[in-house]
Amino acid sequence: MLRTVILGTGSYSPSRVLTNADLEQMVATSGPWIVSRTGIEERRIAAPEESTVTMAAAAARSALAFAGVDPLEIDMIILGTVTGDAMTPASAAYVQAAIGASNAFAFDVSAACAGSLYALSIADQFLTSGKIRRALVIGAETLSRVTDWTNRETCVLFGDGAGAMVLGRGEEEGRGLLATSLRTDGSLTGILGIPRATARAEGVFEGGKIKMRGREVYKVATRLLPEIVGEALAQAGVTAADVDHVIAHQANARIIESVLANLGVPLEKCWMNISRFGNTSSASLPITLDEANRAGRLKKGDVIAMMAIGAGMTWGGAVLRW
Ligand code: ACO
Repeated sequence: MLRTVILGTGSYSPSRVLTNADLEQMVATSGPWIVSRTGIEERRIAAPEESTVTMAAAAARSALAFAGVDPLEIDMIILGTVTGDAMTPASAAYVQAAIGASNAFAFDVSAACAGSLYALSIADQFLTSGKIRRALVIGAETLSRVTDWTNRETCVLFGDGAGAMVLGRGEEEGRGLLATSLRTDGSLTGILGIPRATARAEGVFEGGKIKMRGREVYKVATRLLPEIVGEALAQAGVTAADVDHVIAHQANARIIESVLANLGVPLEKCWMNISRFGNTSSASLPITLDEANRAGRLKKGDVIAMMAIGAGMTWGGAVLRW
């Protein structure tokens, strides 16, 4: 049986660090408030010459080098992003050119923070059907450019970065991607998003910046993520007790703690980096996977549960055996 396997991971984070102390100079907030509500201590901000495409390409090159795969061997590139360099063409097309993956077809997926998990699930279909041999899944975001830096309720949360994984197919019994489960609830579009600028009856509505009803996002995320991870675990034929590692979209430390407590998985099994990167949306999950991988944390045969949720709301869970 063909299964999707991860051949290599990579990531890229801009060098500029924005600390909570820096934010105290910009809006009425405090470091202790941010840490206690979100777990975030600092985040990375892209330099003017950097973009979603440049960061995605850097993460992709790093993942390809790790996997020992030539860019020409890649058949498909899927980039999860909500902050692409252009409305069209897709940022994945720019990445394809930048890394020289000229045999790959390439497109973006817009599923917010769940974007790279959606991309992983799509790639899985192409790989396990035998249609393609190698895929590159990337999540990359320049959220600093859609953040309202005068709004303390959102500006403390987000950061920039990119993560990537090179996928192939394997036939070793029981190893690889065992299950993915995706969901959308479009009745919740109003609680989180980046609306375009539109004239409304009640006046001009300022678009282009992140708008969020934080408390509602928190409630929805803590309710939906345990359900979807449970569903993916059942589909994979394993239980929460079998999980060796959790690779989670780093939305908010409190959301992750609540979801893991609900699932009965100890927090030590979850690789956390939100304190250093904040919420990097679709980049978050592949950056986290790359860190855990490069730290040597993931051992052959380990069961990894993944989860992500974002605007839409879109959410998903995945289970793989490393
Ligand atoms: N600094 C200081 N005070 C603040 C800040 C800030 N940065 N932001 C809000 N406050 C104030 C509020 O104005 C409010 O003041 P009030 O009581 O005088 O009205 C008070 O703090 C409490 O506000 P709440 O919104 O109730 O704070 P809460 O404990 O809910 O924390 C937070 C806010 C962190 C946004 C929380 O709701 C949350 O974690 N929501 C989930 C949001 C999230 O993770 N979004 C990520 C994007 S979506 C995703 O990736 C899934």
